[in-house]
Amino acid sequence: MTNFSGFYPFPIYSKSSTFAPDFKISIMELKGKTFVVTGGGSGLGRQLTLELVKDGANVAPIDIHLAGLQETVQLAGEKGENIFPLVCDITDQAAVQALPQKILAHYGHLDGLINNAGIIQPFVNVENLDDSLIDRLFNINFFGTLHMTRAFLPYLHQAEEACLANVSSLGSFVPVSGQTMYGASKAAVKQLTEGLRAELEGTNVHVLSIIPGAMATPIRQNSGLEAVNVEKQKTKGVLNPNNAAKLIVHAIQKNKAELYVGTDSRLMHFLFRFIPMQATKWLNAIIRRQHQSLSLP
Ligand SMILES: NC(=O)c1ccc[n+]([C@@H]2O[C@H](COP(=O)([O-])OP(=O)(O)OC[C@H]3O[C@@H](n4cnc5c(N)ncnc54)[C@H](O)[C@@H]3O)[C@@H](O)[C@H]2O)c1
Repeated sequence: MTNFSGFYPFPIYSKSSTFAPDFKISIMELKGKTFVVTGGGSGLGRQLTLELVKDGANVAPIDIHLAGLQETVQLAGEKGENIFPLVCDITDQAAVQALPQKILAHYGHLDGLINNAGIIQPFVNVENLDDSLIDRLFNINFFGTLHMTRAFLPYLHQAEEACLANVSSLGSFVPVSGQTMYGASKAAVKQLTEGLRAELEGTNVHVLSIIPGAMATPIRQNSGLEAVNVEKQKTKGVLNPNNAAKLIVHAIQKNKAELYVGTDSRLMHFLFRFIPMQATKWLNAIIRRQHQSLSLP
């Protein structure tokens, strides 16, 4: 960690003054660090992997799909040698517990974990949603994040400084009709992240809560739903995961605590505090319109 301290805006302060504010800008160096990124075979997880290796980090992307991981390595070009892909289902607690040793054997140290893998639900109201789909949502989105966190935290504590970042969603704080159980699973992730931040305060592990709005990724196909045209999403102004990854990596470097990613997420974060009912209506109307206008590929 690089600390720039002792910057005093008022000349009357001396460094020894008890009233002198001690402003610190702490920056996490990424070069040579080892990050684990779940869901690294597609969408945001892939872009996070590519962005981190571009900045000199080593990355172990974890995914349930081997083909997606292979494509991520290929897209990294010569930086692909700094990627150690591992196939693992994050709902399999025993398999998750075996991951840290595999990565340590390869890189020798662990400095960051980004819990990013997640799925959405079919656009179905709670009363009509299958129990098995609710279990799957919570097993991947919440328990997958929890298993990974508990498996990796003891090793993150051994680093000089480390980062734990969890990807939640705009749906964690604004209700979205037809995605209620997805929102509930992401609200659980957000609350878990905030609780971890309180528990890890003052330790070497910085905790970042990531709350993205809509991104142009194949999350629908990967969640077993009918596909939308991802390229068309981008032209309609939906956030490119590449840009989202840049913002997230920057927030990791700056040891930020919270990041609302995308105009929709930032705007709703503001509006929901003052006019929650109206903000919910607006968001749901926009989502309905987007659904109608995005044709299948
Ligand atoms: N795309 C959006 O609009 C959006 C908006 C807000 C939040 N998010 C969140 O961002 C995160 C990334 O989503 P994305 O849009 O990049 O989706 P994506 O489908 O492109 O990528 C998710 C990856 O997670 C992997 N995965 C799924 N289940 C897994 C499991 N059990 N074990 C290991 N890997 C598994 C998938 O194979 C896939 O490669 C998710 O947590 C999602 O909820 C997405």
